[in-house]
Amino acid sequence: MSAADIQTERILVIDFGSQTTQLIARRIRESGVYCEIHPFDVDAGFVKEFAPRGVVLSGGPETVTDVDPPRIPEGVFDLGVPVLGICYGMQAMAGQFGGTVQSSSEREFGHARIVNQGGRLLSGLGDELDVWMSHGDRVTDLPTGFVVSASTDNAPIGAMHHEKRPLFGLQFHPEVTHTKVGIEVFRRFVIELCGCKGLWTAENIIEDAVARIRETVGDDKVILGLSGGVDSSVVAALLARAIGEQLVCVFVDNGLLRKNEREEVRATFAGEDEQVLNLVIVDATNEFIDSLSGIDDPEEKRKIIGTKFIEVFEREATKHDGVRWLAQGTIYPDVIESAASKFGKAHVIKSHHNVGGLPDRMQLSLVEPLRELFKDEVRQIGLALGLPYERVFRHPFPGPGLAVRIMGEVRQPYLDILREADAIFLDELRQADLYNSVSQAFVVYLPVRSVGVVGDTRRYEHVVALRAVETTDFMTADWAQLPHELLGHVANRIVNEIPGISRVVYDVSSKPPATIEWE
Ligand code: XMP
Repeated sequence: MSAADIQTERILVIDFGSQTTQLIARRIRESGVYCEIHPFDVDAGFVKEFAPRGVVLSGGPETVTDVDPPRIPEGVFDLGVPVLGICYGMQAMAGQFGGTVQSSSEREFGHARIVNQGGRLLSGLGDELDVWMSHGDRVTDLPTGFVVSASTDNAPIGAMHHEKRPLFGLQFHPEVTHTKVGIEVFRRFVIELCGCKGLWTAENIIEDAVARIRETVGDDKVILGLSGGVDSSVVAALLARAIGEQLVCVFVDNGLLRKNEREEVRATFAGEDEQVLNLVIVDATNEFIDSLSGIDDPEEKRKIIGTKFIEVFEREATKHDGVRWLAQGTIYPDVIESAASKFGKAHVIKSHHNVGGLPDRMQLSLVEPLRELFKDEVRQIGLALGLPYERVFRHPFPGPGLAVRIMGEVRQPYLDILREADAIFLDELRQADLYNSVSQAFVVYLPVRSVGVVGDTRRYEHVVALRAVETTDFMTADWAQLPHELLGHVANRIVNEIPGISRVVYDVSSKPPATIEWE
């Protein structure tokens, strides 16, 4: 297999703006086939050149009965490959082939049982299927050549297919996990109907990435800001495999890290196990803490830390001769989000790359080997590259670190206390086997005083808040309903083991309106 092969069998996902378009792409990738998401206004030339083995049309918020509804790109039906329309995608297909779509004020939303009437996509999956519906409009008259493949009371044409051509429409959403047979529907579409072999596996992705990295950077040196987070860790492991000694990893200890983070990164990457990198650990603790002195505005803290990071990283990078490339852990959702924002969609983009600005200043080119991967794929290849499970499945940690978890001015004694409290909370979560059931958990330091009593002695010390959330995308989040006993136990340990804390509270705010971090 040559490096390019695993992407030549590819599916084109046309995005009509549904909240679940990324899920469609993930399900296709889970079925072992590469796919890309592109907006509905791509032109016929693009569609032809993309040369997909199949096309999936997403759902979307628009209605086909509007005057000028979003249309399926020109050229899609000329490709002669299977096309699957989901929700709006099905309605658009029905509309464009001469069927009738009716708007309805009654939305059907949630679980539904659909009677399966067969067709090459659905036959054999069961007489009745548990599916997830979310639609107002529905197809009321089939276009010529199409027949019904499934129906509910609410949507008599709940799914359709063409009798001769490989064209399929589903009113329900196979991409959400509530649709029990969803993954099988995608597998059948991409493997059986589109004829893909399923080459998109962790081993093949690694092999492909390694070949492409080698081809791109040649004999040049590459520098990577290794934060210890999932993405940069996987980039490090991948580059190490691809170019070995040509890679220089710089880990900046800004003094705002969690307990033992520096040692753990060193242990993972600089020996004691298979990952042996040219790892430079820069101790810039004092520089960062000094620059934060007297600053209590959260955004100002972020800005100072970002600028300082570039300064320290640049200083370190210039010590290494022959560096031509800067590696970054950009992943596919970042790429989709910035592309979507160009099309004027209201997406929030997280500014997660704190080395922005460096490539231009230092005349470095960018190498971003994870650009095409979803987070779950990044994790899978991380494991396949031999990274420890704990590193691959760790919670995200913000670039400005503990600085945004200390309200107001960052001071060394506060950092020391917060680090200990945070370690106790995470340790107890792991012991209770709950670390992986929450998406992010941490402690926040509140420099307000509260009275406590230990033995016969009154104490007047600071307060910490425990924060734990559950979320899939970090755009919205629910506070985690952790067991009361666990919270009580953590609180006890913190006030008993850390003299500087007299009280522990639990944050029960969800996002929105609260954010996950306190600053
Ligand atoms: P919020 O607090 O906005 O956080 O609900 C959403 C996610 O983003 C992380 N976060 C940051 N990450 N630099 C980062 O690299 C930042 O300045 C930053 N602020 C928040 C946060 O930890 C959560 O995962």
